Amino acid sequence: MTTQQDEMTMNPKQQVASRAAEIATSGMIIGLGTGSTANLFIDELARRQREQQLDIQVVASSVISRVKAQQAGLRVIPIEQLSHLDMYVDGADEVTTSMLLLKGRGQDLVCEKLLASHATAFYVLVDDSKMVERIGEKHAIPIEVMPNAAQLVLNCLAKLRAKGSLRLNAAGDNVAYSAAGNLILDMQFEDLDAAQINALLTVTPGIVEHGIFADMATVVFVGSASGVKLLEAK
Ligand code: A5P
Repeated sequence: MTTQQDEMTMNPKQQVASRAAEIATSGMIIGLGTGSTANLFIDELARRQREQQLDIQVVASSVISRVKAQQAGLRVIPIEQLSHLDMYVDGADEVTTSMLLLKGRGQDLVCEKLLASHATAFYVLVDDSKMVERIGEKHAIPIEVMPNAAQLVLNCLAKLRAKGSLRLNAAGDNVAYSAAGNLILDMQFEDLDAAQINALLTVTPGIVEHGIFADMATVVFVGSASGVKLLEAK
């Protein structure tokens, strides 16, 4: 058990990772997110498994998280074998006080949303730099589209006065493919709020998935220099 004094020596991302790892108990199947905070959670979970002989299994939202979990000694099962998921733990790119999330800065959002939506509890780990007043404040909204649908979806979104473009790879010399083999549009919507955007994107043909996670988080752990605060679903 991490004491308050231990917590004060950790950075905010480590603090929230440690809090979430404390929730794990033997017998659980635990979903692993993707990103630097999810990585800290994987380390902390592996430490608890080693030191406290926790009997747990994990499922990963990305290749990188699977490899990291295996290297850390966690027992990874494939998504195909999941009968249930006790908890899913992941970071986020933006969070509002009403627990709307923006995710998908990485390229694994389809799997992240799949696991988050099937988990009994979804724990979100962020530091306070991720808190925003409205979704889309700091980042464009990632939208995964079928590869041959990118232009048609862009045309459709332009009618909603959305602006944006196809995501390119890190070198900028080719398109970026998501882990699910799709293309990604990074879009800004000036006239619509997150609830309206969520509703529209969910019913637009050609869109496979998008980065707004609404009504999904069970608890958001927000780390800061003054400690961890919790936002809890009502
Ligand atoms: C991955 O697709 C994202 O949704 C991440 O969860 C998000 O980018 C958080 O990353 P960090 O934990 O590295 O801030």
